[in-house]
Amino acid sequence: MAERIVEIASLSDADAISALFTRSYSELLKDDYPPDVLARAMPFLSFAKPELMSSGSYYLVKETGKRVIAAGGWTAVRPGASEKPVQPGLVHVRHFAVDPEFTRQGLLGKLLFDRCVHDAKVAHAATRFECYSTLSARRFYEKLGFEVIGTFEAPFASDFTFPSLHMVCEL
Ligand SMILES: CC(C)(COP(=O)(O)OP(=O)(O)OC[C@H]1O[C@@H](n2cnc3c(N)ncnc32)[C@H](O)[C@@H]1OP(=O)(O)O)[C@@H](O)C(=O)NCCC(=O)NCCS
Repeated sequence: MAERIVEIASLSDADAISALFTRSYSELLKDDYPPDVLARAMPFLSFAKPELMSSGSYYLVKETGKRVIAAGGWTAVRPGASEKPVQPGLVHVRHFAVDPEFTRQGLLGKLLFDRCVHDAKVAHAATRFECYSTLSARRFYEKLGFEVIGTFEAPFASDFTFPSLHMVCEL
């Protein structure tokens, strides 16, 4: 297999990353969420947030210079909170997705998370990662050393929350 290079994403990647989110979430979540819940959630799940794309700590992998096949990152700011305060040593996993054609190879998801750990340690002296995981990604995060500390209803809209898991990993 070709060597996979992790790049830092920028705002100009937003459309390609949004297309990846659509491919990934619509296919890989369907065993764990009822069709109506997933359909309602897709506009939120597939939105590439501009502040994340331009954060400098959001990454992507392309298939030999073309299609984006994996993306994910970290922030010191908690998802949903627009600003500081941030907690020393604590960082948050943000919007991981791998193209369904390339999952479960023990490669792309792990490659992105390793990059997050490396950069979060350097930039934020990270000692702990937290994550609001889809129900579908639980085993992936457990494999990386996370454990579930609770359930979480992600507040996508005033009348719609999305069932998720609050997970934590001590580095
Ligand atoms: C979660 C996701 C990013 C994982 O990406 P991936 O490229 O398949 O992950 P990797 O292949 O690098 O997996 C790393 C390890 O976790 C394991 N793993 C990954 N998904 C797994 C699953 N569903 N069940 C069991 N083990 C799993 C892999 O087998 C691998 O184990 P190994 O190191 O022993 O080989 C991908 O499945 C995805 O995009 N899911 C849909 C979107 C989503 O839910 N994102 C999470 C947002 S919170």
